[in-house]
Amino acid sequence: MKNINKERRRFIQKSSLALSSTIFSKWLSANPAVIKNHKNYQFKADVEIEIIARSANIQILKSGPTTRVQKFYANLLKGPKNSLQHLKGNYLGPILNFTQGQKVRIYFKNQLSEASIIHWHGLHVPQASDGHPMYSIPEQQQYIYEFEVLNRAGTSFYHSHSHQLTAEQVYYGLAGLIIVTDEYEKKLELPDGEYDLPLVIQDRQFNQRNQLLYSNHMPVRMTGFLGDNILVNGKPNIEFNVKSRAYRFRALNGSNSRIYKLAWDDGEPLIAIGTDAGLLERPVTKPYIMLAPGERVDLWLDFSGMDLNTERKLISLPFSGAMPPMMEMHQGRKSKMGMHGMMMNSNLAHGEQFSIARFKISVKTSNSPRLPDKLVTFNRFSENMIDNANKPIPMGISMQPMKPQLNKRSFQMYDVTDFETVELGSYKKISIFHDHGQQSERQGRGGMMGKGMMGKGMMFSMAHPIHMHGQQFQILSRKMEGMRKAAYETVKDGFIDSGWKDTVLVMPGEEIEVIKPFQDYKGLFLYHCHNLEHEDLGMMRQFKIV
Ligand code: C2O
Ligand code: CU
Ligand code: CU
Repeated sequence: MKNINKERRRFIQKSSLALSSTIFSKWLSANPAVIKNHKNYQFKADVEIEIIARSANIQILKSGPTTRVQKFYANLLKGPKNSLQHLKGNYLGPILNFTQGQKVRIYFKNQLSEASIIHWHGLHVPQASDGHPMYSIPEQQQYIYEFEVLNRAGTSFYHSHSHQLTAEQVYYGLAGLIIVTDEYEKKLELPDGEYDLPLVIQDRQFNQRNQLLYSNHMPVRMTGFLGDNILVNGKPNIEFNVKSRAYRFRALNGSNSRIYKLAWDDGEPLIAIGTDAGLLERPVTKPYIMLAPGERVDLWLDFSGMDLNTERKLISLPFSGAMPPMMEMHQGRKSKMGMHGMMMNSNLAHGEQFSIARFKISVKTSNSPRLPDKLVTFNRFSENMIDNANKPIPMGISMQPMKPQLNKRSFQMYDVTDFETVELGSYKKISIFHDHGQQSERQGRGGMMGKGMMGKGMMFSMAHPIHMHGQQFQILSRKMEGMRKAAYETVKDGFIDSGWKDTVLVMPGEEIEVIKPFQDYKGLFLYHCHNLEHEDLGMMRQFKIV
């Protein structure tokens, strides 16, 4: 008990230090972050799960010592048995299987030696169950989440969301998949059971003793941490033994900053049936699919007609624009010396080609489900549903030295601007764009790069995956301007804009307009860059729904 109190005090000190004292006192009375550790007896849960975060030793690499990780363990206290799907010997948390309409209560127990909180990325839940960092709990404490599953069928994921600890905690293992199903999906008879598999893609670095390496150095954090070892579902060099039939693979980019350009190695196009937390209206065929941190894509991988023991590889194709131009140049040379070494942080450059997973036909069958022409129906959002068509909510991306920001502001626990305040029930147009303007002017005149050639804005221009909590949005338009058109050419055919999104990759020079609904719950809901190093550096803001 004494110990808990001491920890609690330390935590409170730490969190109040993180806020400027004026803002803290101004908001403390208005917005007390009530750590929810009592259950609401009125809330009749269909599913009750206990999730424990603690450190563990897991055999990740095939030989040698186990790796120290942080891991979500879970026990099902109430509800259908398949609500939890444990992945044996894995640092990833179990897969949570929910059905639309279910009421879920989760007891989160923090047994780490630092603060933590879980966010259900993709789920539309009340503020108090959304894992806002204000609810971060110290070690040995408990947080109780209660929410109804309002989402339609789709793939989401849960991960830690403790401010300034998110990147590290996710990297060390605190993440897992969430699968939601509903009535409409069941009627489609999509591949299920052993034919519906996760494809969680993450990059990691290991040292000689098989321990995870992570770097907190500012140059690394400014571009994002990259690993040189590609793990799928928590394993390196993964090979799936498949039957010669169609499968559903739920791909999630769970990496801190690496973007993937998914493709078949034999040049066959990829087929997607879903995007972030939702099925598409109809399947989409793409030569390749861009998958940025936080994004999901439901893939229809069809091995029909392939011969026994033949193989197919899912790879990431080369592309550019993920990094600032100067660093891409250095990456190209693969130099790790001197200044370059400081800026680069991985042997596997961002945008380089590599293999992700191999699929080997181990059973021949002629019995395969057919790809449906139509999947689900949903309303397309249009400009006449919104009241701010000519005045979109801005999300300006900028990179100040050591400070990636949104609208030239950094995250403050309770800080909300006027334009971040939206009415409950409204639909808003949001414009996400690169806002390096002023910087590049100033830099252009007196600066080192010379005007018109490469202003500072452009020097720092890189791709950012922008994520918004709450309900999924729809993409209205994309515009590409600016100097990095050549980079854009390498990625532009890989975006799926016809489905639900909660995370969208914004390439350098790109402006994306979306329409987002703000229904059901009042309160504070975050939006941020899902490059987790950027998020922790403060590239995060929030909406206040009133
Ligand atoms: Cu997946 Cu606020 O994050
Ligand atoms: Cu989220
Ligand atoms: Cu970013």
